[in-house]
Formats: sequence, C-alpha cells, structure tokens
Amino acid sequence: MKNLLIGLVFALGYAGSAQSWFIEDPASLVNLFIGTTNGGHVFPGATLPHGMVKVGMDTDSPGNQAGYDADPQYNVTGFSQLHDSGTGGGISLSNFKIFPLLTCEQDYFEYCKTSLESRKVLRNLLPDGIPDDYAQPGYFSTNLSTGIRVELTATRRVALHRYTFPSAFPSNVSANPNTNTNNTYIHPRIAVDVTNDGSQTSTFPLMTINTTTKRVTGGAQFQASFGPGRYTLYMCADFQVPGVDAVGAGIEEYGAWLADYPVQWTENVEQVYYGFRDELGALLTFPVKTTTILTRVGVSYISTDQACSNAEEEIPDSGTGWDFDGLRESAYDTWKELLSRIQVDPTGVDQEIVSLFYSSLYRTHIVPADYTGENPLWNSTEPYYDSLYCNWDTYRTLYSLYALHAPVDFARIVRGLINIQQHEGWLPECRGATQKQYIQGGSNGDPILGEFFVKFYKYADALNVSATDLYNALLADAEVQPPNWDLEGRQVNIWKSLGWIPQDGYESGGTNSKQVSRTLEHAFGDFVISQVAQLLGKTEDAAKYAQRSGNFANVWNPNVTVPGGPSSVVGMMQPRFMNGTFNYTDPRHCSVNDPTQATCYLNAANHDGFYESSPLVYSQYVPHDTARLIVLQGGPQNFIDRLNFIMDEHYFDETDEPSQQIPFMYHYANTPGHSTQRSRQVISGYFNTSVNGLPGNDDSGAMGSYAAFYLAGLYPLPATRQFLLSSPYFPQISFYNPAFNTTTTIIAHGFNGNPADGTGGSVFVQNVTINDQPWHSCCYIEWDAFEQGAVIELQLTDNINVTCGSDSSALPPSLSTGGYGDFSYDFGMGV
Ligand SMILES: *[C@@H]1O[C@H](CO)[C@@H](O)[C@H](O)[C@H]1NC(C)=O
Ligand SMILES: *[C@@H]1O[C@H](CO)[C@@H](O)[C@H](O)[C@H]1NC(C)=O
Ligand SMILES: *[C@@H]1O[C@H](CO)[C@@H](O)[C@H](O)[C@H]1NC(C)=O
Ligand SMILES: *[C@@H]1O[C@H](CO)[C@@H](O)[C@H](O)[C@H]1NC(C)=O
Ligand SMILES: *[C@@H]1O[C@H](CO)[C@@H](O)[C@H](O)[C@H]1NC(C)=O
Ligand SMILES: *[C@@H]1O[C@H](CO)[C@@H](O)[C@H](O)[C@H]1NC(C)=O
Ligand SMILES: *[C@@H]1O[C@H](CO)[C@@H](O)[C@H](O)[C@H]1NC(C)=O
Ligand SMILES: *[C@@H]1O[C@H](CO)[C@@H](O)[C@H](O)[C@H]1NC(C)=O
Ligand SMILES: *[C@@H]1O[C@H](CO)[C@@H](O)[C@H](O)[C@H]1NC(C)=O
Ligand SMILES: *[C@@H]1O[C@H](CO)[C@@H](O)[C@H](O)[C@H]1NC(C)=O
Ligand SMILES: *[C@@H]1O[C@H](CO)[C@@H](O)[C@H](O)[C@H]1NC(C)=O
Ligand SMILES: *[C@@H]1O[C@H](CO)[C@@H](O)[C@H](O)[C@H]1NC(C)=O
Repeated sequence: MKNLLIGLVFALGYAGSAQSWFIEDPASLVNLFIGTTNGGHVFPGATLPHGMVKVGMDTDSPGNQAGYDADPQYNVTGFSQLHDSGTGGGISLSNFKIFPLLTCEQDYFEYCKTSLESRKVLRNLLPDGIPDDYAQPGYFSTNLSTGIRVELTATRRVALHRYTFPSAFPSNVSANPNTNTNNTYIHPRIAVDVTNDGSQTSTFPLMTINTTTKRVTGGAQFQASFGPGRYTLYMCADFQVPGVDAVGAGIEEYGAWLADYPVQWTENVEQVYYGFRDELGALLTFPVKTTTILTRVGVSYISTDQACSNAEEEIPDSGTGWDFDGLRESAYDTWKELLSRIQVDPTGVDQEIVSLFYSSLYRTHIVPADYTGENPLWNSTEPYYDSLYCNWDTYRTLYSLYALHAPVDFARIVRGLINIQQHEGWLPECRGATQKQYIQGGSNGDPILGEFFVKFYKYADALNVSATDLYNALLADAEVQPPNWDLEGRQVNIWKSLGWIPQDGYESGGTNSKQVSRTLEHAFGDFVISQVAQLLGKTEDAAKYAQRSGNFANVWNPNVTVPGGPSSVVGMMQPRFMNGTFNYTDPRHCSVNDPTQATCYLNAANHDGFYESSPLVYSQYVPHDTARLIVLQGGPQNFIDRLNFIMDEHYFDETDEPSQQIPFMYHYANTPGHSTQRSRQVISGYFNTSVNGLPGNDDSGAMGSYAAFYLAGLYPLPATRQFLLSSPYFPQISFYNPAFNTTTTIIAHGFNGNPADGTGGSVFVQNVTINDQPWHSCCYIEWDAFEQGAVIELQLTDNINVTCGSDSSALPPSLSTGGYGDFSYDFGMGV
C-alpha cells in the first residue's frame, strides 16, 4: 500500500461521475437552518469543514448555544468568530462580536450605544414573517432592521465580514462639533466587542488600537462551557473599505468603549475584572457615504501576534480589498467536494429527503474543529482537534460515517486524540476550547480509536497513525486510574477488581454517579480494546479484554419488571453494591413515563445509576453482544416484545444517543423488516428540513450522522467491520472513499418511493448480492465491501416478514456466538 498517499490527494475519480444520477452540486441542497431553534442548537454560520473559525450571528435567545436562533423575536447582539454546533451545557465560545452601528444620537461618537443590551437590533423579516437570513456552506448573510446587510465567510482560522450600509443615509442632526465632516450624512460605525463571549465570563481583558493602522487586537480569559476550566483567546481585527487603498485607511475616529461609554482616541485598555461582568471594546467611525466595510478577524489561542499572522496568512492584504466573493466561493467548493463523495440517486425521491440527507451529512463536518497550530498547552507537530463535545455523543455514529468517506480527516482527528493522551495521560472525552470537560459516561475516545483501527489497520502507517501509540492510549484508559474520572479516563481500579462500578463504591477522585451506564460503556470500551489487540496479534490481551467486555452482565438483575408493564419484559440493568446485592432504580426512571419526572442530566443529583436515559434503554445497550442480551431477556420473542414495548410506549428517546441503535435491534431477532419500519418511522416522526427538524440537540453532528445512516439504510457498529443493513431512501447510493480510491454502490431494486409516515412500502430487504454473488445475510454487510469497492444489490419487497437469511451466520455478529473473529472477506476486487 505504499502508493496509498497518491489516492489521498483527492483525485476526483469518482466512479459516480460516470453515473447518470450524479448530483453535481450537493452543497446547493444543504439547508443550514435545520435545528436552529427550540433547542437544536445548530450553528448555521460560515465555516470550512472542521474549521476553527465558525463565524455567525449571535442572538439574545435563551437557547443560543450556537449563537443563532431562527425565531425572529430575538435580537441580534453581534457577529462572533467561534462557535460549537448542537451542544448543550453553558453557551460556549461566541467570542469577539463585531457589530455595525448606524445611528448614534446626534451622529456623535461618544453617544453611541455599544453595550450588548443597548446595541441589539432585530432582523428584517420577509413577508411570510421569517427572518431575512440566508446561508449556504461557507457563507451566511442577514439584513438587520437598521438596513445594514451583513455577510460572513471564513477560512480555517480567520473570518471575513462584509457590512453593507444603506447608501448615503441622510442625517437630520445639526452640526456635530466632534467630527470634521459636514454631517449631511450619517457615519457608518463598527463596534468590536472583546469581552462578551456567549456566557459573559471574561476576565483579564486587554485591548489595543493601533493609531496608524486602526488594527484592533485583544483578548481575555473565558469559562469553558461544560467543565471547570478557563481558556484564553486572542483576536486581531482589521478594516478595509474596498476601493480605498490601504487597510485601515480613511477611518475618521476610533476609541475604546466600556459598556455604553465610548471615549474617543483611546488606544490601550487593560483591565482586570474579578467576579463581575463588564463590557469592553473598540469603536471605529468610517467616512460618510461609505457603504461597504470589510472586517477581517483572526483568532488564536496562542497570542494576539498569532491571531494577526493567521489573518495575514489566510486572507492576505491586497490594495483593492480582501476578496470576499473569492473566499466564499473557495469555501463553498471545499464543501462541495467533500459532500460529493456520497452520491444519491434522487429519482423518485422527495426533494426534502435529498436535502435532509445532505444537510445531515453537512452537519457531521462542522466539528471536531481543527485547531492545529493553536494548542496553547504544548508544542507538537501532530494535528490538534478540539470541540470534541462530547465523544459520548458522537462515537456511536459519527466516526463510522467518516470512515466511509472522510478517512483523512478521521486519521488526523485520531492522531490529535492520541497526542492529547500522550500529554495529558488519558484520551479526551469531552473537550471544548482546549479544556477538559465533563465525562458523560465511559471513556469514549476508546471506540473512536477502535473504529479507526479496526477499519484502517492495514493503512494506519500510510495515514500516519502509529498503531503502538494508539494501543498505548487505549491501555491508559483501560488500566490507569486518573486523578479525576469526571474529566478523563475511568474509575479503573474498582472496575478491574469488581467488574462493575458499584453504587456504594465511594472513592475520592470523581463523583459516584452513573454507575450502571458507566459499567455498560466500560464493557463496550473493553470490547473495543480486544478487537484492536486481536489485530495487533496480542492474543492474551485480546482474550483479557473480551472477557472484561462481558462485565455488562454483572449489572443485570433478572427479576426486575416494569411497574404496570408486560410480564415478558423481565430483567433489567440495575445499580449494584460492592457486596453483590442490587439496589433498585425504577425502569421508567429518566423516561417520559417516569412518575417522578426526574431528569438524569449531569446537573441533576443523579446517584441512581443512569445517565440521560432510562434503565429500559440502557438494558438494550450491549452493542457487541446482543445475542447474549437476547438470552438474558428470555429469548427472541421476549426480546421482540421488549423492543415493541420500548418503541410503542415511547421509552425510545429520539432526542438522546443511548437510544440510537434500538430501532435497528430487530435485526438480531431475525426480523429485520421491523428494524426497517421502525427506523423509517423515527425519521418521519422527528427529522425534517424545518428549523424545528431535529429531536433535541444535534450534539456535534451525532444526530446528523445518525439521520444520514438511517437514510442510507445502514446502521454502524463502531469498532467492528460490520454495518447493519436496511433499505436506503434512494434507489441508489454510493460512497467514494479517498483512502482506497474505491466507490461502493448500493442499488435497491424494487425501490418504489418512501412511505411518508415510514410505515409499509416496498422497503424491506429480501435478498442481497455483492458483485453479483449471493450474499449470505440480508441484515449486515462487511466493511471489506467498502474497502475493495463493490456493487451491493438489494431486492426490496413490501413484505415486512423478511428474515436475515436461512442460517445462523445470517444474523449480525455477537461476541458470545463467535462473532468478531474473522477480519477479511475477499469480494474479488483486490486491494
Ligand atoms: C482512482 O480510481 C479511478 C477509477 O477507478 C482511476 O481512474 C484513477 O486513476 C484512480 N486514482 C488514483 C489516484 O489512483
Ligand atoms: C428586541 O429589541 C427590541 C428593540 O430594542 C425590543 O423591543 C424587544 O423587546 C427585543 N426583543 C427581545 C426578545 O428581547
Ligand atoms: C438582504 O438585502 C439584499 C439587498 O436588498 C438582498 O440582496 C438580500 O437577498 C437580502 N437578504 C439577505 C439574507 O442577504
Ligand atoms: C429626517 O427627517 C425626516 C423628516 O422629519 C424623516 O422623514 C427622516 O426619517 C429623518 N431621517 C432620519 C435618519 O432620522
Ligand atoms: C457635505 O457633504 C456632502 C456629501 O459628502 C457633499 O456633497 C457636500 O459638498 C458637503 N458640503 C460641505 C459644505 O462640505
Ligand atoms: C502600528 O502599526 C504600524 C504599522 O504596522 C507599526 O509600525 C507600529 O509599530 C504600530 N504601533 C504600535 C504602537 O504597535
Ligand atoms: C512552544 O514553543 C514556543 C517557541 O519555542 C514557545 O515560546 C512556547 O512557550 C511553547 N509553548 C508551550 C506550551 O510549551
Ligand atoms: C431473582 O429471583 C430468584 C427467584 O426468586 C432468586 O433466586 C434470585 O436470587 C433473584 N436474583 C436477584 C439478583 O435478585
Ligand atoms: C450490601 O450493601 C448495601 C449497601 O451498602 C447494604 O444496604 C446491604 O445491606 C448489604 N447487603 C448485604 C447482604 O450485606
Ligand atoms: C439505593 O437507591 C436509592 C434510589 O435511587 C438511593 O436513594 C439510595 O441512595 C441507594 N442506596 C445506596 C446505598 O446507594
Ligand atoms: C437474489 O438476487 C439475485 C440477483 O438479483 C437473483 O439471481 C437470485 O435469484 C435472488 N435470490 C433470491 C432467493 O431471491
Ligand atoms: C407478517 O407476519 C405477521 C405475523 O405473523 C402476519 O400477521 C402478517 O400477515 C404477515 N405479513 C405478510 C405481508 O405476510
């Protein structure tokens, strides 16, 4: 494979380009506003794939985790440079807002209202009452009620803003003694806000205005969103009026402001704030009749100098003005190339579904954010990715989607994770703004590394991933107890000695909570390690961790039923004490049916054993050994009854990741038609292209990747080489993989559209061939097909009673039935 790197240079040799159904520009089908109100927290602004800078509009809505809110009642507070997407927790980032001011009382500098509260304005509304906002990959624009048009685009670490003021806005004020112009027209002004991050947490702000260039540099310390840490961030803003020769030329007034008090001609402001909020920034006045003002904002976690050098490097100065339209186009083309790697045949498919697919795919590449060169914690030549917020959300589906079409990004992210482990001791779990944030469950960097290695072990060298370092990182999580397991690693000592996390195992070093969900996730984490060990020929380790992966059964109490529930649903994952006896948590706890309506979020005092999902949901969570789970649950029929109960009684929680596999679990009971129907009902019920089109938060692309897989008719099993198989929402779908330069196409014969409510239809898989050879299962396919490039043909039927196939190898693998041992299939394509 020494020529692999040639294949990585994105020679766009898609087999797809020869197909009549090739979608030339999938980026044009992306709707960036899905999930941008009512808690979706999706970021609709401008970014490159995995860009550090995510420049977007900030509003004063309560749910402005990503800055923006599509609800027009909320006011705009600025256009800031960094955001996350789809996160919960406190409002993250949203640092360094830029704000265009049109009217200051008497057009007088020192009467300008600069504070967040005073300056905010509504957006213009379109005739149908929605805000006049527009976005496409790499670009965002809006029209403010002041008549100012705002446009944003980005490179990796630099934002470019274009403000278009209404032309020659007449002023009615009498002569202003403080400006030397004649005041017939109003002066456009730009405010730079150094201190107001989304949560208003700044301390130690510093700001300087260069009196020659009018360059504004500054920075402050801010609070990370979901952890105890604080971070320091710097900015560097330059201004240019296109057509006026030099950057900073023509600016008539400048000065610093504190809250609503701008002071002319101030240059340096350095303040230290303790425990109270204040607001600090710069204000610049442009000549009357100026319509267009470009603002370039570099950011850096290292220094203001680096923020400026980033800005100059990525958006160089030019006499005529920075090329906003060129940068916008280049960002768009980057997205277009990335999204084109997955092609769908839209024939007979509602346009909304095609848009839903590409919009979901788009959202999987907003974060993790590539902070390479911007890590303030240590120097390294390795990539550094941040906004891993959180691996608990994303490990289930996000990285498997990358494996299919973005292996180089995936490899770089993995290298970044390993590098963090080498410097901090443990893999990151939930990271934001360079800080460790709170762990939600297990050590979920493990399945991300496992997913990479199990699928790309033959190519690890070519992708610059060290197998040794990767394995050592896994072992650190599995074997070494960290000083604080709420921030990294696991409560390992007790896990190793006991085989479960006990409810009464008080130890200093982290909170004693989430004991059952941690047990289940650690079991899966150890399964992952066993798979990597096996590939590395470490058979003893492989056996040891495979053994430990069976520990999930230690928290299975066979006698617990659901109060008022069916008798066939018996046995539940439950909290267990050190002495081996069980405590009891009502299986309805943390569900919509919970009589106590408890929440199980991190901020709740949840010592009941479960995190963000009910015992009923967690009782399905053994992805590596569902066969064993079926035995524990009383056999296939009881298992099916339980799945039906979970789905019909709404224990399935579409808003949260632990439920994600449940609709697909009918596969393991040889009734895959029900998985197909249930998963399609989930899409119909909860996903669409409206601003409300997401259940819950997008969680850094977790929901986007989940929806994309459901629409593709696949469900991933991370750190394995299998995908569960259903029918795609398209007559054909193909995946181009740049690491292998292969295209794999799934063709659905008998495709006859998608039933609107997800029920029925010619959507059930009754027969599968791969490269014209009969395939032994209708329930799963092997990664090898994607590695080698293949044509997978499905025959669809309207009979829901299809099966996986006639023999036991047709069922998806499980550890206890001999699965996960054989790593290679040859589809005759050769690699
Ligand atoms: C990738 O595959 C295509 C078609 O299969 C071929 O034309 C092209 O040369 C290959 N590119 C590289 C870089 O190997
Ligand atoms: C938005 O600003 C306008 C004008 O200042 C104000 O009347 C309105 O109440 C604000 N809306 C919200 C939701 O704060
Ligand atoms: C804003 O106004 C401009 C000029 O009238 C118009 O071209 C644009 O479509 C409007 N909407 C957005 C979102 O930019
Ligand atoms: C100026 O005064 C005229 C007449 O009173 C009014 O229509 C117009 O809106 C005013 N313009 C501004 C910018 O206040
Ligand atoms: C005032 O400004 C306007 C617009 O720039 C210009 O046309 C006019 O000549 C100016 N008048 C004086 C007295 O400077
Ligand atoms: C302001 O910028 C100019 C031009 O880059 C530079 O020569 C000068 O040193 C700067 N002034 C300060 C105080 O840094
Ligand atoms: C990284 O290297 C630079 C240049 O040698 C040095 O100034 C800086 O302190 C180093 N940073 C860290 C975190 O070690
Ligand atoms: C479950 O019930 C059986 C029969 O009553 C009993 O023997 C067993 O100890 C119980 N198991 C647990 C974990 O309570
Ligand atoms: C086991 O430990 C729990 C919690 O400490 C205690 O309540 C229970 O009585 C113990 N049971 C036995 C049999 O020791
Ligand atoms: C047993 O569970 C109950 C209910 O969650 C909880 O209040 C109690 O603290 C638990 N007992 C122990 C010893 O942890
Ligand atoms: C499966 O499909 C292939 C090709 O479409 C066909 O030749 C074969 O007869 C089918 N097998 C069954 C059992 O339907
Ligand atoms: C599928 O099986 C169910 C239960 O056995 C049966 O009621 C139904 O009629 C079957 N559907 C078809 C299309 O055969």
